[in-house]
Amino acid sequence: MAVFQRNSWRSALVQSEQAMKTAARLELIAVDPDSAPVIHQLYQKSPTYFRLIGMEIPTLGDVEREVEALAHDPQRRCCLVAAPVHKEQHRVIGYLDYKLHYPEPMAATISLLLIDEEHQGQGFGSLALEHLESLLSGDLRRLYAVVYGNNLAAQRFWEARGFRHFKDGGPSLRWYVKELQ
Ligand SMILES: CC(C)(COP(=O)(O)OP(=O)(O)OC[C@H]1O[C@@H](n2cnc3c(N)ncnc32)[C@H](O)[C@@H]1OP(=O)(O)O)[C@@H](O)C(=O)NCCC(=O)NCCS
Repeated sequence: MAVFQRNSWRSALVQSEQAMKTAARLELIAVDPDSAPVIHQLYQKSPTYFRLIGMEIPTLGDVEREVEALAHDPQRRCCLVAAPVHKEQHRVIGYLDYKLHYPEPMAATISLLLIDEEHQGQGFGSLALEHLESLLSGDLRRLYAVVYGNNLAAQRFWEARGFRHFKDGGPSLRWYVKELQ
């Protein structure tokens, strides 16, 4: 099983000033090989999303394979979103999957931002995005997001946060883009 550079990446995560401001409320924790069961639980708590995109909820084995595949893609970054939702203690409530320097060198692309259904609509998705933007904005110029299926709520989410529809990558894939400050 591949070894992830969790500590070095994690410390890079908190370097940006903005990231430090939001860190008290929300943390992005780099996925490592032990994260598969937590990610699987998040997926199980998000049946509406998988129904919407016409997919079965991935099995634990699927997630384990996916996590292992991460090690072979050095540009891909996956993190758990943790927030103080229970007596000020941080719990994992979401998942963020993005790829650096894709589709162009000075950009990154979010392929999934998922907040579990119990915690949606409480500002955590916006905070996670804000956190990521502040992390990337010193180094990259542009942030893309892709939306699968007929996911109108997600389309509204990206548009309300300054993203514009950029292109359709087929009948069920919409690309959004935002210039980073
Ligand atoms: C889209 C998503 C990440 C937003 O995260 P969130 O924590 O619910 O969002 P926030 O609370 O920060 O903001 C709520 C906004 O998202 C929109 N939204 C999208 N899905 C929503 C949901 N299921 N419940 C509540 N609001 C939702 C609302 O319209 C609201 O927009 P507004 O503030 O402009 O009125 C989250 O709902 C989710 O995980 N959905 C399923 C996975 C998905 O579709 N991901 C996006 C494609 S990559």
